[in-house]
Amino acid sequence: MLRDAHNRTIRDLRISLTDRCNFRCFYCLPNGEPPLARKETILTFEEIAYLSEIFVSLGIEKIRLTGGEPLIRKDVPSLVRELAKLKPSLHDLALTTNGFDFPRHAAALKEAGLDRVTLSLDSLDRDKFLDITGVDALDKVYKSIEAAKELGFDPVKINACVVRGRNDDELVDFARFAREYAISMRFIEFMPLDSGHEWSRDLVVSGKEIYAAINAVFPLRLKETSRGSETSWKYEFADGSPGEIGIIAPVTEMFCGACSRIRLTADGQIRTCLFSTTEHNLRDVLRSGASREEIIQFIEDVVMKKEPRHYINDAEFTPASRTMSFIGG
Ligand code: GTP
Ligand code: 5AD
Ligand code: SF4
Repeated sequence: MLRDAHNRTIRDLRISLTDRCNFRCFYCLPNGEPPLARKETILTFEEIAYLSEIFVSLGIEKIRLTGGEPLIRKDVPSLVRELAKLKPSLHDLALTTNGFDFPRHAAALKEAGLDRVTLSLDSLDRDKFLDITGVDALDKVYKSIEAAKELGFDPVKINACVVRGRNDDELVDFARFAREYAISMRFIEFMPLDSGHEWSRDLVVSGKEIYAAINAVFPLRLKETSRGSETSWKYEFADGSPGEIGIIAPVTEMFCGACSRIRLTADGQIRTCLFSTTEHNLRDVLRSGASREEIIQFIEDVVMKKEPRHYINDAEFTPASRTMSFIGG
């Protein structure tokens, strides 16, 4: 069992497969900074599978593959196949993707044992989608959603990062979309993790505002009064329509007290918080020929250093040592 100094149990591991991305989202990687990780510093799939087996033996139950855009890596299904061997101790194997290339890999990912997929979709309007992401790919994301549903990934979750003046006029349209497609539509408050350093408090649309805008048109009902270590509050439609709304409000309603997450970057660094200002070099430990016991000791020691919370709302906030495209959400 991995426990930190604040008595939180760590059960979720988020693994970034690459820090490269083919999108240029305003809230993430607008200028396409060159990737930090080099070929020789990126963990191989064998290394990721070996480390994942160790993490699962220590009580990790959920693994989410992220990026950058994870499907830029070659043959992700082969990694999924290895990780799926860790079930049933591993309860949940998920992927976050921008949906550009998902349909091409979807069947192989499913067949390899992927349980769930989360797609990013920040606008339902073609021009606005292009404006926010830098790529004219709205149709591709629609195709990805259809592919995910057809293959039986369940639930299919859609993430929209809400930025004032960019897509906050589409909240009700997104809710209608969730109803029509019977999907889980999640809205995320904009966090100061963008490489363009454009984040400001005025650009944050609070979870409460998001809720009010949707609830005024489609009345919502909270699904559960407790969310455990999850990031989102989940709502159903009061009129019984299919679909779900999720609200993720890390800025205005911090959920760090129940955090169960740690992260492994593409180049093998453990990050104990999205907003960590230091990292822990698991890659070097692994490549120096450390024994399994030594690797376990390193991981346990690192987890003890997990930050109690983020400091976004404090005057002395120091930005994270890497931006979102390197960390992977
Ligand atoms: P599932 O519930 O398993 O689907 O995962 P999740 O709720 O973690 O959702 P997902 O992986 O799609 O994350 C959604 C978004 O929430 C991320 O892209 C981040 O923007 C934000 N997020 C996820 N984890 C954290 C976290 O630990 N801290 C903060 N502040 N934000 C997070
Ligand atoms: N703030 C909030 N969410 C972000 N994401 C990326 N950058 C940010 C940010 N600055 C989320 C996107 C995407 C996921 C991978 O990360 O919504 O769906
Ligand atoms: Fe966990 Fe850090 Fe996110 Fe808070 S900001 S929920 S401590 S990862």
